[in-house]
Amino acid sequence: MDANKHIFLIGFMGSGKTTVGRMLSESTDRPFIDLDHLIEDEQGKTIPELFEALGESGFRALERQALRTCERKNPSVVSTGGGLPCFYDSMDVMKHMGATIYLKTSPVELARRLQPEAAKRPLLKGVVLEQLPAHIASMLSKRESFYLQADYVIETDGLSDTAVMQRCLAILR
Ligand code: S3P
Repeated sequence: MDANKHIFLIGFMGSGKTTVGRMLSESTDRPFIDLDHLIEDEQGKTIPELFEALGESGFRALERQALRTCERKNPSVVSTGGGLPCFYDSMDVMKHMGATIYLKTSPVELARRLQPEAAKRPLLKGVVLEQLPAHIASMLSKRESFYLQADYVIETDGLSDTAVMQRCLAILR
C-alpha cells in the first residue's frame, strides 16, 4: 500500500462502498471521504435534490469537481458515487491519485439490497420492482468497462462487509 496515495472504492450503488470504506479507513488509520456526502455538504442539498435542480449532467460536473479536491487532501479512503467512474476521465484521474478497487456485486444481489430504497435513488426511481434486476443489469453492462479498469476487483456476493474489507487490506498490503 502506497502511504502517500488514496484508496478509491468504486462500484454500483449498493455494492457496499460507503460501509466498507468506513471500516477500511479505521483499519488503515486514514481519513474517510464519501464523495456523495461531500457534494451534499458543499451544496447544502441532497443528491435527489441536486439531480432535480441540475439534471444528471449538472450532478456529474459536481462529482468531477469533488474528485479533483482529493488532489489536495491527505491520503484517504475515498468512496465514490456509482456513476462517477463512467464520466469524463475520472478513472484515469483516480488511478493517478491512488489505488482503485472495484466492489463487484451481481445484479440480483444489488436488486435485493436496493429494492427498499429504489424510490429514493434518482436513477432507479419509477422502475417497477419486477424490472429492477434487469434494469440494474442493463446499467451495469454499460458501466462495467469503466469499473473493470480498476487496479483490483473484489467479488462481494456472499461476503460480509468485514470480509470485503479484509480482502481490501490483503490486496493493498
Ligand atoms: C449514482 C450513485 C449514487 C449517487 C447518485 C448517482 C449512480 O451513489 O451518486 O444517486 O449514478 O450510480 P452511490 O453509489 O454511493 O449510492
